Amino acid sequence: MKKKKGRILTGDRPTGKLHLGHYAGSLANRVQLQYDYDTFLIIADVQALTTNFAEPENLARDVRQVALDYLAAGIDPKETTIFVQSMVPEIAELTVFLSMLTTVNVLRHNPTIKSEAAQRGYKDLTYGFLGYPVSQTADITFCKANLVPVGEDQVPHIEYARKLVRRFNSLYCPDRPVLVEPEALLSRVPRLVGLDGNAKMSKSLDNAIYLCDEAADIEERVRNAVTDPSRIRKTDPGHPDVCTIYAYHKAFNLELEPEIRGACEGGKIGCVECKKRLATCINNLLEPMRERREYYLKRPNEVDDILITGTRRARKEGRKTLAEVREAMSINYFKI
Ligand code: TRP
Repeated sequence: MKKKKGRILTGDRPTGKLHLGHYAGSLANRVQLQYDYDTFLIIADVQALTTNFAEPENLARDVRQVALDYLAAGIDPKETTIFVQSMVPEIAELTVFLSMLTTVNVLRHNPTIKSEAAQRGYKDLTYGFLGYPVSQTADITFCKANLVPVGEDQVPHIEYARKLVRRFNSLYCPDRPVLVEPEALLSRVPRLVGLDGNAKMSKSLDNAIYLCDEAADIEERVRNAVTDPSRIRKTDPGHPDVCTIYAYHKAFNLELEPEIRGACEGGKIGCVECKKRLATCINNLLEPMRERREYYLKRPNEVDDILITGTRRARKEGRKTLAEVREAMSINYFKI
């Protein structure tokens, strides 16, 4: 493997299929950066349990679903380490040590925790849910990642991780920092609107296009999406900045976007035509993914082997970092 510029860690909770919001927010960046950065992708099953603890039996399927979405999207297992969070016990160990350095109040005020809790109607929070930013800090730092490609909603967690790392290093190893302060990397599209015009594409709002959707389904869903409500006839001047379809052109159709903006504002292209062009563009993006998905769907053992190899490599990194963490904390009493 060629020498790389740095290390990336990022990932997803295995709670189902990945959609275009995931792709635009972070996955496209990962595919591109994997050749320049040593990339670790975490399938965060423990984090999924913070909300889905009552149905752990879904994880076996969902972990593989995320792996398949990664591979279909163009993650190359020769370049990238894909691994399962719960099978790297060093992450859990680091979470415990880091948890001493944070207060409950700071976690309570984390904006992403607050909005997720509100969205789910949680009144009292479990220890695991409230503390998942600590665990996410361990996800990032156990392998000393310096770059974290994420969507907009994850930025508070990276900010939090930076503070926790600084606290650890200044307390235990001020002269030779053991943990690395990570930086968030936002994409050109840090948040993608939903098909219904909602601010965010999300599974729970049922307004998503999934990477594994079929071409005909996508055409239909795009056809039914909301556009500029003040535009009734084709010749009415459109307002692309309030139109969901235009937002997708901007995200996925970089080349034609300026032409579409002009034609919409000038009343020269109708919404039907504009939607057709978008569906074609999305399907062109997804077509190569469909082929790779087919390949791996036929070879489930190969997918499992990729996860096993990746998880072993992640554990090796974890053992190295945790030895340094214990030494810095003076809790490496003896060798066993
Ligand atoms: N919280 C992320 C999400 O919900 C998933 C995640 C877990 C993650 N650990 C991470 C993202 C570490 C970046 C870095 O999508």
